[in-house]
Amino acid sequence: MKIFIDSAKLTEIEEAYRCGVCDGVTTNPSLIKAAASEGGSDLEEYIKKILTTARGTPVSLEVTEYTFEGMVAQGRKLYKKFNPVAENVYIKIPVNPSFEGEGGREFEGISAIRVLAGDGIPINCTLIFTPEQALMAAKAGARIVSPFAGRIDDLIRKRAEVKFEKADYFPTEGLEGFDDDGVVSGIDLVAQIVEIFDSHGIEAEVLAASLRGSRQVRDAALAGADIATIPMYVMRDMLVHPKTREGMRGFLEDTIPEYAALGE
Ligand code: G3P
Repeated sequence: MKIFIDSAKLTEIEEAYRCGVCDGVTTNPSLIKAAASEGGSDLEEYIKKILTTARGTPVSLEVTEYTFEGMVAQGRKLYKKFNPVAENVYIKIPVNPSFEGEGGREFEGISAIRVLAGDGIPINCTLIFTPEQALMAAKAGARIVSPFAGRIDDLIRKRAEVKFEKADYFPTEGLEGFDDDGVVSGIDLVAQIVEIFDSHGIEAEVLAASLRGSRQVRDAALAGADIATIPMYVMRDMLVHPKTREGMRGFLEDTIPEYAALGE
């Protein structure tokens, strides 16, 4: 499974690449907002630095328009402006950008994907909450589909009136008696998409997004996700175990100077 960093903060992205585990970057307007104070006034230059840092690996940049015409025009502009920097831009398009009460606009996301993919622009289709949305996105030409695992867990826990913190672990099997139209957890959503894509030979990659804990990353890997996009705090958590720390302390205490000197 590939590991992407889910962040627009250059400091975090640099750190993830420095330690050698990072295969790509995902951003969205909320992550850009969170990085804006670090980025200073020249956002364009800041994004270019992100692209250079991630050289050779995909970086998703999301559109902020929400009509078919707007998303196509903005997707093309973003790609033209940023892809030449390091040839690694994916344009992120929401699967359905319509708002409540706006019937008739449901196809605008996948229609934009069709046009942009037809231009040869790699697309990451975002805000996926059902296997059917993933199927439609892949059929339209998305190279990556992004189910939001954590947010499905939020929805199910709210329905079950369970108190929770954002990063609390939610098991793949969910809570008995609660689901979202046959999906029992975020990881179940990922698993169902993986199964459908595998059994129908669909080549789009399944990117597990909205992951909030280290065990959830493990569950995404077990579910067969091609990619997991992970915030920095979760990446750190993936390396932490009290017995690792205890063992480390023991090795340090037992180190005899003669042995340490061999590595000097
Ligand atoms: O990759 C999508 C992600 O940024 C959303 O995460 O935790 O806000 O649901 P979250």
